[in-house]
Parts: sequence; C-alpha cells; structure tokens
Amino acid sequence: MSTIDERVEEVLGKMTLEQKCALLSGKTPFGTRDFPDLGVPAMEFSDGPHGLRHQKDGANHLGIGGSDPATCFPTAVTVASSWDVELAGRMGAALGEEARSLGVGVLLGPGMCIKRSPLCGRDFEYFSEDPYLSGKMAAGFVRGVQEKGIAACPKHFAANSQETRRQASDSVLDERTLREIYLRGFEIAVREGRPKSIMSSYNLINGTYASQNRRLLQDVLRGEWGFEGATVTDWGGSVDHVSGVKAGTTFEMPAPGLDSPRELAEAVRSGRLDEHFVDARAREALHLVLESAAALEGADPEFDRDAHHDLARCVAREGVVLLKNEAPAGEGDALLPLRPGTRVALVGDFAQTPRYQGAGSSLVECTRLDTLLDVVGERGELDLLGFEPGFTHDGSDDAACRAAAVSLASGADVCVVCLGLAGGQETEGAERRDMLLPQAQVELLRAVRSCCDRVVVLLSCGCVVDTSWSGDCDALLYLGLGGQAGASAAYDVLTGSANPCGHLAETWPLSLEDTPTAGRYPSDGATAEYREGIYVGYRYYQSAHVPVAFPFGFGLSYTSFELSSARIAQWEQGRPARIEVNVRNTGDRAGATVVQAYVAKPEHEVFRAEQELKGFSRVELEKGESTTVAIDLDPRAFEYYNVGTCSWEVEGGRYELRLGLSCEDVRQTLGAELKGTGAPNPYAGRELPSYGSGYVHEVTCAEFATLLGHAAPNAIAPLGRSTCLRDLNRCRSLILLLVWLVLEGRHRQGLKPGNSPDLDVEFAYNMPLHAIAKMAPPVTMGVVDAIVREARGYGLVGFVPALAIALLAHGGFGAFAVVWLAWVLVPLLGALLVGALRNVTFARKLNLHGKAE
Ligand code: BGC
Repeated sequence: MSTIDERVEEVLGKMTLEQKCALLSGKTPFGTRDFPDLGVPAMEFSDGPHGLRHQKDGANHLGIGGSDPATCFPTAVTVASSWDVELAGRMGAALGEEARSLGVGVLLGPGMCIKRSPLCGRDFEYFSEDPYLSGKMAAGFVRGVQEKGIAACPKHFAANSQETRRQASDSVLDERTLREIYLRGFEIAVREGRPKSIMSSYNLINGTYASQNRRLLQDVLRGEWGFEGATVTDWGGSVDHVSGVKAGTTFEMPAPGLDSPRELAEAVRSGRLDEHFVDARAREALHLVLESAAALEGADPEFDRDAHHDLARCVAREGVVLLKNEAPAGEGDALLPLRPGTRVALVGDFAQTPRYQGAGSSLVECTRLDTLLDVVGERGELDLLGFEPGFTHDGSDDAACRAAAVSLASGADVCVVCLGLAGGQETEGAERRDMLLPQAQVELLRAVRSCCDRVVVLLSCGCVVDTSWSGDCDALLYLGLGGQAGASAAYDVLTGSANPCGHLAETWPLSLEDTPTAGRYPSDGATAEYREGIYVGYRYYQSAHVPVAFPFGFGLSYTSFELSSARIAQWEQGRPARIEVNVRNTGDRAGATVVQAYVAKPEHEVFRAEQELKGFSRVELEKGESTTVAIDLDPRAFEYYNVGTCSWEVEGGRYELRLGLSCEDVRQTLGAELKGTGAPNPYAGRELPSYGSGYVHEVTCAEFATLLGHAAPNAIAPLGRSTCLRDLNRCRSLILLLVWLVLEGRHRQGLKPGNSPDLDVEFAYNMPLHAIAKMAPPVTMGVVDAIVREARGYGLVGFVPALAIALLAHGGFGAFAVVWLAWVLVPLLGALLVGALRNVTFARKLNLHGKAE
C-alpha cells in the first residue's frame, strides 16, 4: 500500500456518510469541497485542452469572463496535424507546469471526441475523425501533463458529437460502431496514457446518460480497460447523482449546492443505495484530491512564458499542412517557400487580428499574441509592400476594402492572403450551418487573383471548410487554429525556415452534401441516430468511392519522400506485428513526413471499411538521407467487434498492410494471412446492403433498425426533467410558453446572416430542465419537478379553482389572477423552501452550517 493509499483509508475511516457524499460534488464552479479538520483540501479543475482557463475570481462557465494569463497552445486540430505523439507530450508537460503554477490539480483535457461531421462547433477542440490517431495523440498528451503530477482528464466520454441539445441528446448507435469508433480512442488513451481522471459527456448513449452509464463507466472503463482514477461529469451534466454514483461517477460538477449530497445520503439511509458505492467513489475522489495536493506542494507560481511561447510556436509549425504548392503560370518552381526580398502584399484581416483559438470553455487569455503583420515587419526578410484587411467581419463596406487590397496586390510579386472563419463560427454550444468560408473572403481572393499572378492563401480555421476557391491560389497553407504563436509558425513555413510536415487528421470533403451525415447532422430531435455506423471520415469516402478535396493523412512538403522495400519483420498470430519500410528524402532540403499504415481485408464476410489506420510513424530526414521506419501493429489492428459474441474477433484470411503518405497515397502493400477466431458472422442473414457496400448516405429506418437489432427510439421525448428549454413550445403552460418565446426569439436572432450565436442563449436554449438544478442552486430537483408538472398542464388546471373563487367571491379578474398565480407559484416556492430547509438540516449534519454554500 502506498502512503497515499494509507492516507486515503485513514481519512475515509473518519468521514461521516454526509461528508463522503458531500465530497462527491463541487463546492465552487471549479473546486471540490474541502474538509480542513480531516486534512482534505479543495481541489481545482481547470479548462481546457490547449491552455489554462483559470479564473481566480467568480469563476464562470463557457469562457465568458476573463481568466489568468496562460499560454494559448494550438488547438487539438493543429496538434493532431503534427502526428507527433512526443510533441503532444511536450505540450501536455508545459500545460501541466502552468497548471501547477496556478494551483490546478486537474486539467480538463484532452478533448477527444470523434469528428463525425465538419459542422460540429467544437471540432477545433478534437483531434481527429480516426480513433487510432486520436487515441495516440491523447495518450501522449496525458503522459506529458501527468509527468508534472497534474491529472489529465480526457473528455467527453463518449459518443458526444453534436452541440445541438448538447446536454440531452441521445446518441443512438450500434455496439460495434460504439466500440470501434467512439470508444477506441479513449481505450488507447486509457491503456497507454493512464489518465487519473476522465470526464463523462453530457449526452445519453442508447437511452442512458453517460454520467449514469454503468456499462461505460464501470464495465468498460474500469473493468475492461483498467482505469483506476476518478470520473467527473461534464459541467451540469449530472442528472441523478444517486444513479451516477452507483454507475461509477465520482465527482458531480460544477456546484449543485447541498441538494445532491443530501439526496445521496438519504438514498443510503433509506436502503436505495448501498454505502459501498459511496465508499468506492469517495476513495477515488480522495485519492485524486490528496495526490494532487501532494503534487502541488511547493509549486513554483511562475512558469517560463518565453519557453512556452516558443513551444507553442513549435507545435503550431509542426501542425501546418501544405495543401497546395504549384508553380505560377509560366514558371518552373513551386511558389513556396518565398525567397528573401520577395515583394509581398499582405491581405486579409487575419494578418492583424489572428484567428488562433475557438470560443467556449477552452478560451484562453494568452500571455502574448503574435500577428503576421508584426512578424513580417520585424523579421525584414520579405519586402513588405503594405497591408490591407480586404474584408470586414460584419460585411460592411467590403467592396471598398477589397478595392484597396486589389490595388496593393497589383504592385506585388506575391500576394499573401489570410483567410479563415470568423470567431463566432467555431464555438462550443453551437453548430456551424454550412462548410463555407464567408463570401466576402472568397470574393477578395478572386479579385486579388485577377491582378496578381502569384497568390498564397494562409487558412486559419479549426475545422474543414469548402475549398472550391483553391483554384484562385498557387499555394495553400492550412494553419488550423495555431494558438498565440501561430503567426510566427506560419511565417517560418512561408519563408522556408521550416519545412511544412503536417498531415491532415481529417478528410476535407468537396462539399457538405458529400459527408456521410449530410442532411442528418445535427439532429434536432431528442435522438441523434448514428446511421452511418462505422463509416466515419475516410472510412466512408474510401468505401463509398466519394472523391474528396484533400484526403485523410494528406500533407505536402518542400521536399519529397520515397518509400521502398516494405517487409514484415515480425508476424505471429496474437502478438504485435512489425512492419518495416525504407524511407528516403529525395528532395533538396531536410524535412519530415508521416508514414501511415492502413490495414485492409479486400475479401471479407463481415462488412468493414476499405481500410483503417492502425499505425504511423513520423520521420525526419536530411536531404538525401534514408532510414528504416518500423511500425508496430497491435493485435487489435486485425480485430473487429463482434456484436454476436460481444468480443473482439479476427476474421481469418488474407490481409493487406498498406503503407503510404495519406490514405489515398499508398506506396507499398504487403500481404499476410491470419487465422480467424472462428466466431460466426453476426450479420449473416440480415439485410444490411448499405453497410455491406459502404454507401451509408441514405440508410433507411428499417436498415438502421436491423443494424441496431431493434427499432430506433422515438425522436420526440415525453415532457420530463430532460425536456430542453427549446422544447417548451410543446408544453401546456402559459408561463413556460412565454419563456420559450423569448428564448426562441433570441436564438433566431443569432442565426441571422452576419450574426454570431450568443453563447449564453444557446446554452439555455439547449439546456434540459434538470440542468437548472445542477447549475443554479438553490434551485433543487424538487423545483424542477414542479416545473415539469407545470409544463404538463398543472397551471391550466388551476383555471378552474381560480374561476370558481373569482365567481363565488365576486372578485372579478383581480381575484382570478391572484388565485391562479398562487396556484402556479406556491408549488414552486414550496419546493424551493422545502429543499432549502432540508439542505439546512443536511448542512448541520455535515457540520457546515453557517459556512458559505
Ligand atoms: C464543456 C467542458 C468543459 C466544462 C468546464 C463544459 O461546457 O463541455 O469541455 O471542460 O464546460 O468549463
């Protein structure tokens, strides 16, 4: 037993039931409860994946309100484009150091949901459409953070892929898709990174909230994967903490007041919940709290801001993806890199107002911010002719802006055009409505092109955009969201002091219509049907032969690479396989590339994608240098999840191991035989034509039901605690209808062209009633239940007594109104009062009476 284990058992032995229950929910928006008499301090959580959003005073949710300055590293989209697990670890370590300096015990990241559609507002916070890449990057990140003694907290577990109805959407999917696509990344991160905590998602998975999902939190996470840490709900994501604790939820956040702990204690005392569940969770909680406290002891309140800025720049640089680099008309050499002395016109507002992170809970107050305009000016290698914004973010007077940009560009050797998405388009809490860049930017590019023969586009956005305009540029550099040093990184690549080596972690389709979820994403109803099944990202485009703009794994370089002599170095059933390949830098400058290993089984009985990424290795080579790259494929690389046997199985036969520089650029193919595990095909005799072919764009209800093994649940849920405020138009209450009208109006306002969604409004709009109790104490679940009764028509029933009393007492409308309002309000206020009184009693028992709660 370690010292911490002993200490945990000692404290646990001294805690009362009330104290143990109180430990399992937050006291402040980001802090746990402290028990000074027992020597248990409070522990702080803090966002977020790419920088600390630590709010000393009056912490609030969703990035609204400032926070302490911290390094804003590139967001996950850019980190993943580096395919550099070790670099993700270095970034994690720097974040761990900053967390230590701020007294934060748990860093809420990495974000590792699978990118199911380019429209998800939070795509910038997630690594990839591929679980293997996502899991590997996350594992590296977690190891880095935890090396500093700080707990990482991969999120959001699991199948959380849309912001619409974010707190109450039911992800309906078949078990194989869940295991192979949505859980696999977490499995890798847990097995290889050993995170000390994990955050459950807001949504339901096949009818059960993630925070109450025993199968996920206990059977899979702890049972199968060996997770030993604490789980935490997403902020406001707990529904019923009694069920949560039983299912494996350790902490309920943020600060639901004393309602939850009281309910927990009552459940134990009444025999509804066995105390051993509370003990198990309290043990996990104490472990994390005490371990964090020990790690934070003597922490240096300062961190090296310059060094972290440099690291942020390095991550941003490694994540830059060169998507296009052609020779301008009539010239022999590709346009990039730009030579010293090139006369450059800098166009596009992002050169002076960079787009470097997304909005929401991950928003960081950076320590400093590079802009391309400054960097180009300061370095002096390029001859900067001038800068013109070229467009306005609100669309006002774009024509004049454009004209000025055109006039500047016409006198330049090269025009560098900075394009990207506007801030409000990439945010937690709201989806994008299309995949397009703002029209003013596309027009600007066209106009610049008409007067300048050499055009480079620098594209800043955290998600996939339509690139049908790319014919209007000779070179296209995708920067992702590069963090506070992103502009310097872009400059390094532009001028060739760094050779671009990023590869896309996500497919860039030609249009939204081509995506596997087109027309079905985001789901507006209570359920989100994952009808595309396992065919997410390149798994779909390749299986269904849908041409794309830029394939998964794609990225050009200023040099070139050759792959040769691929061989199987180790091959034994059930053991990791090793393949080796020679890689040579055939160009005239040093550079790095990513060798990707895809596994395919052209002849198969059990449906499967055309090929799947199962290994990769990033390699750096001097010009002319060659090396041998070894890639290990673990046994899981050849397994599929069998829904009949409920386990991972191997289909016997011949497999292909394809090595390449993108999923479309396969350079070497090896063949190998494997013995199958003999499990029968679980789909035999079932009508699943779309899944067999991969053409899953239009899967019918019937076919989806066949895949699920049952009909999909109704997309309209009955009125209850989980009813979202956006659905109040379905209720039978005048007061709640009024609330809906106001909210709907404000929501629609945000949808108007040129407007950005108001995060507060979107949060409330998509919020289920139960979340009010969890986010806004002293509102208790009793009050929520009273609101539900009101929604179901309780208030209308009150018309009868109100009318009767008004008539009998001859009181007219005044009497009617008073009686009716009392009818509606008394139960609400009563529930509030009863909850408050019970909580006061609980507080006494907890010995917290009189303290701020
Ligand atoms: C987000 C989480 C975040 C939490 C705390 C939630 O809205 O979904 O990712 O960690 O807020 O800010």
